Amino acid sequence: MPLSKIIFSTLRKKINSTSAQIAVVGLGYVGLPIVNLIQKKKYNVIGYDIDKKKINLLQNKKNYIPYLKLNFSKKVKFSFEIKDIENTDIIIIALPTPLKNKKPDLNNLEIFVRKFGDNFKNKLIIFESTSYPGTTREYLIEKLKKKNLIAGKNIFYSFSPERINPGENENNLNKIPKIISGETENCKSLIKLFYSKIFETVYISKNIETAEFTKILENVFRAVNIAFINEIKYLADPLNVNLIDAIEGAKTKPFGYMPFYPGPGIGGHCIPVDPLYLTWKAKKIGLRTRFINLSEKINQENVDKILKFIINQKKNFKKFKILILGVSYKKNIDDVRESSSVKLMQNLQKKKIKYDYCDPYIKKLKKDVLKINLNNKNINYKQINYKKYNISILMTDHDKFNYSQILNKSKLIIDTRYKYMKMNISNNKIKNL
Ligand SMILES: NC(=O)c1ccc[n+]([C@@H]2O[C@H](COP(=O)([O-])OP(=O)(O)OC[C@H]3O[C@@H](n4cnc5c(N)ncnc54)[C@H](O)[C@@H]3O)[C@@H](O)[C@H]2O)c1
Repeated sequence: MPLSKIIFSTLRKKINSTSAQIAVVGLGYVGLPIVNLIQKKKYNVIGYDIDKKKINLLQNKKNYIPYLKLNFSKKVKFSFEIKDIENTDIIIIALPTPLKNKKPDLNNLEIFVRKFGDNFKNKLIIFESTSYPGTTREYLIEKLKKKNLIAGKNIFYSFSPERINPGENENNLNKIPKIISGETENCKSLIKLFYSKIFETVYISKNIETAEFTKILENVFRAVNIAFINEIKYLADPLNVNLIDAIEGAKTKPFGYMPFYPGPGIGGHCIPVDPLYLTWKAKKIGLRTRFINLSEKINQENVDKILKFIINQKKNFKKFKILILGVSYKKNIDDVRESSSVKLMQNLQKKKIKYDYCDPYIKKLKKDVLKINLNNKNINYKQINYKKYNISILMTDHDKFNYSQILNKSKLIIDTRYKYMKMNISNNKIKNL
């Protein structure tokens, strides 16, 4: 039997008998829930990350994602030593893929690929990070070809975008249909075999680029629709329209409408970032992405509108203080990446307007990373003295907030989430922005 067939059928056997050893590279919001799911399905899994603090916590059975029910079974190990994942059969890559000056930054992947080197041989590689269509082929496959690693022969490439919704479904990841794709028929067959054992439903994309594009398509759809509702929300008041009622009404149509709700802008590692991957790639092939460009602009304007409203309140801000309720980009989680609250803080700081903030999910903000003032206090959400503040700004609608207290005790509320309108409460103190 040719060597490539032996490698392929050995991997098949190992997957079928659950004796395949799995490594997950990057233990963040995506990687750690994947580790958890895989061990539940009875495979041995090693979680690898360069962050020693994270690994130390995990080795001491401490979980840093509060809403993930992490099971520290005998099936799971954690390490920051790359040698510990050399002898595995399947490598799942969940590394961060940020933008740098609006250009894809694949540096995290580059570091890992360089370090892991020839150890990719004879393995199934599952790339889960979000990136522009073409990344897996142009970057990973071409790079490793130079090391004589040939797709479908002595290495098996697949791309499977992660669809996790942090704070909502990390404990039920297996229920989210999983898009899978592979470079060759053998690559496809291996990922299908493995992920069918892990996830309830798999959808096989025609090729890797299509699977990469599918993920971006989903997130562009969200970015554009969020921008759309965030633009037309300003029409509601002058037209005597209750925006939430209009959305709820439209929702009753059984086809052709999907609700999106107003908010202070977009945040997190996906919606603000992924569309720009496509813009970058489009430019490279001489095409435009006008919807993406416009929605990016509109989604950024929300914070400007809040700031303008505050500035119009007063000329002298010496005795003026604001309370920011919620710093994470969405409710009930601790992720502050690209959060509109952080942008608001940076802008208030520039205007020398004082503020405190309150977020039950955030113990400490990395103020140097976020470029925000060190003097502002993180107020305990159970002990807020609302009277101290001229305006309470509801930026994140965490379930832990006491909304009747916010309403009763605040002098003025900017409700960016339309929370009170959703609760059917109207009051002169509330300004929806
Ligand atoms: N967060 C989400 O909601 C979400 C959803 C779907 C897809 N994604 C995509 O998944 C990928 C991962 O996102 P995330 O939110 O989990 O990122 P994250 O920043 O939460 O976690 C990434 C982890 O990778 C580690 N890391 C960085 N460089 C490393 C290296 N060279 N070797 C080993 N470990 C390294 C970091 O220490 C960190 O723990 C991104 O491409 C993202 O776009 C994220």
